[in-house]
Amino acid sequence: MHHNILLTGASGYLGGSLLAAWSSANLPPHGKLHALVRTDKQADDVRQYGAEPVRIDVSDPEAIRQCVVERQITIVLWLIDAMRSEGQVAFIKALGEVKGRVGGDVHFVHVWICSSIRITGGQALMNSRQTSGAKIFSSHAGAPTDGPLLDTAPDLYDIQKAQVPKLSLMGTVRTFSQVPPLRYSPTALTVHYTQAVTTNNTVIETGEAAGVKSYIFIPCIVYGKGTGPNNKISIQTTAIVRAALSQKRVYSVDDGKPVPPPSHPTAPIQLTVFLTQTWPVCHISDNTTLYLALLRRILAGPAPPSGKQGYYLAASGSVAWNDLYVALARALTKRGEVVDEKVERADEGALEGMAGALGCGREYVGLQVGGLCTFTAKRGEEIGWKPGYAKEHIFEAADDEVKIILEYEKGG
Ligand SMILES: NC(=O)c1ccc[n+]([C@@H]2O[C@H](COP(=O)([O-])OP(=O)(O)OC[C@H]3O[C@@H](n4cnc5c(N)ncnc54)[C@H](OP(=O)(O)O)[C@@H]3O)[C@@H](O)[C@H]2O)c1
Repeated sequence: MHHNILLTGASGYLGGSLLAAWSSANLPPHGKLHALVRTDKQADDVRQYGAEPVRIDVSDPEAIRQCVVERQITIVLWLIDAMRSEGQVAFIKALGEVKGRVGGDVHFVHVWICSSIRITGGQALMNSRQTSGAKIFSSHAGAPTDGPLLDTAPDLYDIQKAQVPKLSLMGTVRTFSQVPPLRYSPTALTVHYTQAVTTNNTVIETGEAAGVKSYIFIPCIVYGKGTGPNNKISIQTTAIVRAALSQKRVYSVDDGKPVPPPSHPTAPIQLTVFLTQTWPVCHISDNTTLYLALLRRILAGPAPPSGKQGYYLAASGSVAWNDLYVALARALTKRGEVVDEKVERADEGALEGMAGALGCGREYVGLQVGGLCTFTAKRGEEIGWKPGYAKEHIFEAADDEVKIILEYEKGG
């Protein structure tokens, strides 16, 4: 089947890096590459990479239907930071319609979203920057963290499904627009995660109902300079740096490192005891190559695992937040941006300041720059992906990372 493809989020960090890698990726033969844009400049940018710009409003289901059906698009790559699922649902239904007309498999690749709540002037606002897709599988969202959770685990969908009622028990679940404008509403966090988990599950369920193969692509802490036409910086390293700049010091919100059990000093990751706060990490180029590996399999067939078995975590391993804080503190000290490279545990005053810099309530700081996530990548290996950078590379890259972030933060 000659697949026509629609890429969304091409002006973003992940989608732009994917677009930039497209022409040299040696993908199997496919039809036209379309890229969703919102401005004339973005249209010119995507043309430079051989994509045909498409301008539609993703909150307009009829515009989506027309776009997909008229162009006979059979693969949609969703890399937009949207919290709600209306756009994704409309695309999936339109793909189902194309399948009915032309036959063959149709595919929807969804980037795992996990937006955070930004609280400004007493109003809670959605903000999907400064977060990681893996958050849905972390302590923050009540996912299991007592051992490694593989992305190949057969019950991941059920785990996610069970998280919704669990989260609901934390408070009355309301739609976002009903969140009371309280600066420290505990309900906001509940609503936030319930919405994120529900959106992600909706993609899988709608795909099943419409006969569309869905894939859930899960980025984690992605680092390294983006290669796309527009946004070139990531989310979480930026949050740590932004918080540090405001306090002239890197403060930790978590303690410790993962510790292998004494009886297995050389234990592989599967046996590592996650006693403390760790998070999966991935270089942007590895994030892109996993995406391309998935796409290659979709284009060449047979289709890789999809639907409730179609979770793809892009991670080369997990690192302790504290080690990341230390590496970034060193790079910031070198540039005179913090008083010294000592990382201290944040007290209430520091938390308040960090919250101001991150544009959120104090209790959300840990959500942005800490937490425990034992989600572990395995599926990528099964489709022939191998990360080019070891997890420790993020420490070596910290100096460059800070340089890029500072350039952006200072409008360079
Ligand atoms: N970067 C990470 O480390 C990371 C980690 C985990 C998860 N994620 C998730 O991955 C997704 C992409 O991340 P990213 O870092 O690439 O984000 P990004 O750089 O902020 O890019 C977001 C993209 O979405 C587009 N977009 C947003 N709203 C849109 C709308 N209504 N219609 C059309 N396009 C829209 C933006 O277009 P404009 O340029 O026109 O605004 C931009 O192209 C997000 O959902 C994010 O939560 C990212």
